[in-house]
Amino acid sequence: MGSSLSCCSSEKIEEGCGGGGGGGGYTPWRIFSYKELHTATNGFSEDYLLGEGGFGSVYWGKTNDGLEIAVKKLKAMNSKAEMEFAVEVEVLGRVRHKNLLCLRGYCAGDDQRLIVYDYMPNLSLLSHLHGQFASDVQLDWKKRIKIAIGSAEGLLYLHHEVTPHIIHRDIKASNVLLNSNFEPLVADFGFAKLIPEGVSHMTTRVKGTLGYLAPEYAMWGKVSESCDVYSFGILLLELLTGRKPIEKLPGGVKRTITEWAEPLITKGRFRELADPKLRGDFNENQLKQAINVAALCVQSEPDKRPKMKEVVSLLKGYDANRKSMKETRIDSLKYKKEILALDQNSDEDDNGPDESNGLSIFSAIEVPKMQYHTYKRNGNKTMVHHA
Ligand SMILES: Nc1ncnc2c1ncn2[C@@H]1O[C@H](COP(=O)(O)OP(=O)(O)OP(=O)(O)O)[C@@H](O)[C@H]1O
Ligand SMILES: [Mg+2]
Repeated sequence: MGSSLSCCSSEKIEEGCGGGGGGGGYTPWRIFSYKELHTATNGFSEDYLLGEGGFGSVYWGKTNDGLEIAVKKLKAMNSKAEMEFAVEVEVLGRVRHKNLLCLRGYCAGDDQRLIVYDYMPNLSLLSHLHGQFASDVQLDWKKRIKIAIGSAEGLLYLHHEVTPHIIHRDIKASNVLLNSNFEPLVADFGFAKLIPEGVSHMTTRVKGTLGYLAPEYAMWGKVSESCDVYSFGILLLELLTGRKPIEKLPGGVKRTITEWAEPLITKGRFRELADPKLRGDFNENQLKQAINVAALCVQSEPDKRPKMKEVVSLLKGYDANRKSMKETRIDSLKYKKEILALDQNSDEDDNGPDESNGLSIFSAIEVPKMQYHTYKRNGNKTMVHHA
């Protein structure tokens, strides 16, 4: 994209997509001037701040023509941030799906980078599960199922429908935004990877968020669509149970959601898995089915995880080709203490900075119950795989 990022005219340059406040048609994206975004956000006023993440701050704004927008302002100008900005704009320019938060525009000046999205009035899934809206209990069972299916459909599109295929690499509750109808829109493509045709997986530096990282990716940087499937499984467990991916227990010990869920699933105690905030108001069969889908997604062995196509059909209630959903056993993932100490999400009530910063978590994750054999790959790199 390079030169196409020169700031800051305001002509319409290409048809893009919107994702809109209440659904409906796609709208074009354009380049914004810094001045326009400055005015729209009242000078990036603290009062307009929606949230902060690894990339920078997100502000609410309103354009001259009355459009409500969310403006993500890059925190620092360095090569890493520049790369994330470029990837985000590049990827967003390629995707069009009702469950993906698309680009409204951007501004790339000499010393600023800003990305403009549609404003999502219900903010992120995280804010409803663990943040400022958690006590309002707006997420009833029907909404949760809609959010699960919609975000799975967004991922299915990225994995199977757009060319080249896209791996998101940062699926988590703060990256699922909710429009006025509580329809989910998957956001934040700054870590995404475009997968050339014929390539099944790649080895990369680890990015993403602790708690959602697939073991093979966290340990060996092996990235494929099934890493997103794993993260989706954690997200699904979180949505159904209301638990955080990593929880801090009294005494300071941290526990992953799979460690907590595993014994309950094994014993078939599904009702105890449901978020207590639902006050028992849920469809038990759907809960079972959805928990089983999550269990399939978080299997240690990437090849055993379902494709997103299958995940969507299972969530919609079709049985696909799986003989029996009952047999799925959940794999529980344990992180070593020093890694858990780096986790900040479980220490906060709301969404604080939570990027794992490409942690050197290589070999720092314990995956119990896995039997390993090792084999040589790429000449000098030892990969360890589930037997
Ligand atoms: N389009 C939007 N509409 C409404 N709120 C938004 C929008 N985009 C982001 N937000 C809010 O801003 C918060 C911060 O978003 P941001 O993506 O910068 O950080 P994050 O998702 O918490 O972490 P990370 O940087 O790892 O993605 C989100 O959690 C959400 O509440
Ligand atoms: Mg985000």
